[in-house]
Amino acid sequence: MKIELAKSYHNGSLLVSFATQTKSGKESVIKLNDSQLEKRLKAAIENKELSGSECEGTLFRNFDFQGYRHVLVIGLGEHPSHETFRQAAATAQSYISSTKSFDVSVLFDGVVGEKKHGIENLKSFAEGLYLSAYSFDELKSKKSDSGKKSPTIHFITKLQSDAQSKKALQEAAVLGECVNFSRRLGDLPGNLMTPSILADEINAATKGTGIKATIWDKARIKKEKMGGLYGVSQGSDQEPRFIILEYKGAASTKKPFVLVGKGLTFDCGGISIKPSAAMEEMKYDMCGGANVAGAMLAIAKLKLKINAICLIPATENLVNGSATKPGDVHTARNGKTFEINNTDAEGRLILADALCYATEQKPEVIIDAATLTGAMAVALGNVHTGYFTKNTDLKKKIEAAAEASGEWVWHMPLTHHHSKDMKGTYADLSNMSSGKGAGSATAAAFLENFVGEGIPWAHFDIAGTAWAVGNRLPYCPKKGASGVMIRTFVELAKQFSA
Ligand code: BES
Ligand code: ZN
Ligand code: ZN
Repeated sequence: MKIELAKSYHNGSLLVSFATQTKSGKESVIKLNDSQLEKRLKAAIENKELSGSECEGTLFRNFDFQGYRHVLVIGLGEHPSHETFRQAAATAQSYISSTKSFDVSVLFDGVVGEKKHGIENLKSFAEGLYLSAYSFDELKSKKSDSGKKSPTIHFITKLQSDAQSKKALQEAAVLGECVNFSRRLGDLPGNLMTPSILADEINAATKGTGIKATIWDKARIKKEKMGGLYGVSQGSDQEPRFIILEYKGAASTKKPFVLVGKGLTFDCGGISIKPSAAMEEMKYDMCGGANVAGAMLAIAKLKLKINAICLIPATENLVNGSATKPGDVHTARNGKTFEINNTDAEGRLILADALCYATEQKPEVIIDAATLTGAMAVALGNVHTGYFTKNTDLKKKIEAAAEASGEWVWHMPLTHHHSKDMKGTYADLSNMSSGKGAGSATAAAFLENFVGEGIPWAHFDIAGTAWAVGNRLPYCPKKGASGVMIRTFVELAKQFSA
């Protein structure tokens, strides 16, 4: 897909326009963002062929308006937010592909009451087009039509200066492409997305971005005393990897913004094996890693003025003859010991070493993302991502970042009660809580042991949101990786930039 800025109408196959609803007494009046078009569609409006409700798409085929063959009217409801535009873009995308339109114009201006937020709506709509264009069919012998030719979308807007509009469209393209990059890594099955493949794919993607990639193999991981990552990898014939990405966009004196992501390429649970129902979904257990890599790529491509480091411990959690057994004790990089009381609670073990390494970088902040606990999906479902932080300033920044990105986050409790439940009997810590309930918070409490005193830290448990099982968000695949939190992490990084 190509996105361009246009001054005015020009011939094409599809024109996308918008309709808003305004109240006049009890009646709801529909306003189109082109008065000529509104005149032409008077009968359709009177016959209630279109209502202007949020994300409603009404296609007028062979309509021949201003040189366009088809016209699509998308409803925005009464008070569209930037999220309305993102979701409306999914409606547009479905008609772009069903009409097989390759030369599309979007009339962006003239939407009632939306001048103030024009630039963020423009960015959101473009972002939504990228997000909803994603499909994962590379493993099918017959490809779908969408992969063959890609459309050019012209945005007709004079709302802001061309420079501002271009910048917004460019940012949307970067974010959309980075989210789709991470989604693909998540969607690839375990046999085609091993720790070494994950490292190679991420390494390849960093080329030309200014990011320096360093990848540690199994021997190096052992030498570096990463007993959590090494211990989990013992059960697998695939070598683990520790992926380090570094981007320098600010003075070397500026402390780094550090991202950490769980890169578990397949989690069968180990000896404490998972039930077989839906076990195939555990290929998504590397989405934390994939998504922080996507965020890092976006940070570098947008040339944010920060120093950023991204760390991804990657391994399988399988069950060969050398697999970790319940009761085994391992030592993390910072010297703390833990007993493994359930080999399925492996994410926290590999993150432990990565958080120790993050701490050694003397960071300004550490943000981690992981598909860590099934309990999080039970607590919050698949729209809200639960996050944990004790730092009130960071909490404020996260809330603002999520507000700007259009993603949903929810602050979760993390207290000494949860920490108490993670004490070990034979080692410093247990990887399983001694209490019942609060499984996501006790997992976060375990992680806290590996973050240096005083470092602002937030942990995002994306177990419920990393992949879709329903179709709550129209710009996410019905089934597949979502790329969640990439946009929020980029917004957060902006707040830390110089
Ligand atoms: N990868 C899973 C968490 C998970 C489960 C994510 C379901 C998404 C959907 C993690 O490694 C795990 O198995 N956690 C255990 C922890 C428990 C043994 C303390 C869990 O949540 O059951
Ligand atoms: Zn597990
Ligand atoms: Zn896991």
